[in-house]
Amino acid sequence: MSDPDLDAAYRLQTPEDSVRLYRDWSQSYDAGFAQAQGYLLPAAVADAFAEAGGAAPVLDVGAGTGLLAARLAEHGIGPIDALDISPEMLALAASKGVYRASHCLDLTQPLPLADASYVGVTSSGTFTFGHVGPAAFDELLRIAAPGALFALSIHTGVFEPAGFAAKLAELGGAIAGLMLTEVAIYGPDADTAHRDHRGLIARFRKA
Ligand SMILES: C[S@@+](CC[C@H](N)C(=O)[O-])C[C@H]1O[C@@H](n2cnc3c(N)ncnc32)[C@H](O)[C@@H]1O
Repeated sequence: MSDPDLDAAYRLQTPEDSVRLYRDWSQSYDAGFAQAQGYLLPAAVADAFAEAGGAAPVLDVGAGTGLLAARLAEHGIGPIDALDISPEMLALAASKGVYRASHCLDLTQPLPLADASYVGVTSSGTFTFGHVGPAAFDELLRIAAPGALFALSIHTGVFEPAGFAAKLAELGGAIAGLMLTEVAIYGPDADTAHRDHRGLIARFRKA
């Protein structure tokens, strides 16, 4: 079987699909995907979180192999906990030594985490085609402390169609200071099908 790729990831439909795909993709994800495509998004989200004064403890949502947390650590931000549905991706992330704890959980379900546990919530590459929708924001806000900073990437291709724009509007006074910054997801040497893909980094605080 060939390694999974970005197109297969964008075609996922269920959390179970994600568990299977990322089990098979975990070993080649960093070199075969992130390096090969010049994947810019995890560092861009981490930099945006740091620039806005983000503090720890941070929950990194859809943490994958830990690329975002590695950049947060370079900013001196920690402790950082990882949340992901894939045990194989979490194992790789844990091996890099940047996370305090790992939570193998499904973002589409209620999270067994206490209210107001985190003062920062980050995510790159998880709110995208075939992955996690905006309904997850309710649980993420519940486990965030008042004033907690969020920095979450949302693929521009799902922002309106999958209801992210409507969800952010609906949250109204539950969030404050919403800023949307458009960034390139991949580098100039990415394959031609994905080179122009863009993401929005949504930054806001829990009110
Ligand atoms: C494209 S990867 C991004 C990983 C990492 N943040 C990065 O930027 O390299 C998406 C991640 O979301 C996770 N994921 C997909 N569906 C999920 C769900 N329902 N709950 C939690 N994590 C999920 C996958 O296992 C995968 O690690």
